[in-house]
Amino acid sequence: MSSLQSSLNSKFIDMEKIHINDIVDIENTSYDYPWSEKIFHDCINHNYLCKVLVVDNNLIGYVISSIVQDECHIMNLCIKDSYRGHGYGRLLLDGLQKEAIAINCKLLFLECRPSNNAALKLYYSEGYNEVGIRKNYYPAPNGYEDAIMLAKNV
Ligand SMILES: CC(C)(COP(=O)(O)OP(=O)(O)OC[C@H]1O[C@@H](n2cnc3c(N)ncnc32)[C@H](O)[C@@H]1OP(=O)(O)O)[C@@H](O)C(=O)NCCC(=O)NCCS
Repeated sequence: MSSLQSSLNSKFIDMEKIHINDIVDIENTSYDYPWSEKIFHDCINHNYLCKVLVVDNNLIGYVISSIVQDECHIMNLCIKDSYRGHGYGRLLLDGLQKEAIAINCKLLFLECRPSNNAALKLYYSEGYNEVGIRKNYYPAPNGYEDAIMLAKNV
């Protein structure tokens, strides 16, 4: 499926509490160290920029960012495993970028595990550049793993 086809049958909308059950299901099957349900409630309650992607009435992805002044920190971006590889991840990232620009953000940044090839390829192809390393950022089986920091000016 092309990115254009992906965009035609999808809706990029605000995350609400009624979405959290679906989100937690996706989260738990997507990450070795998933966020808890409470974290998603807290993100909505504390006015993080929280969006979901809905395709044919199915919630298939979500993105959460915190906005500080003109910077948008992407904290979680995820597509349901059975919908990956069809352009939806790029659609979600593009949707977020448009929202960030609309509220005058000048910089988007995020952390990514060095082992996460799919995500890194997506970010590089969308113009993100490596700007640093955060030491011991992620939990890992034998302790902690460093994060690659990526950023993009918009
Ligand atoms: C990263 C993620 C969001 C990508 O979503 P997706 O819908 O599969 O991505 P898309 O289909 O839009 O693909 C966009 C680009 O990502 C890269 N990509 C996606 N899947 C890939 C894979 N399996 N291997 C290598 N690159 C891949 C490619 O560059 C692709 O562009 P192309 O199709 O033009 O080659 C998805 O894999 C995911 O949710 N992973 C689990 C959660 C996660 O790791 N989130 C990121 C945290 S930093």
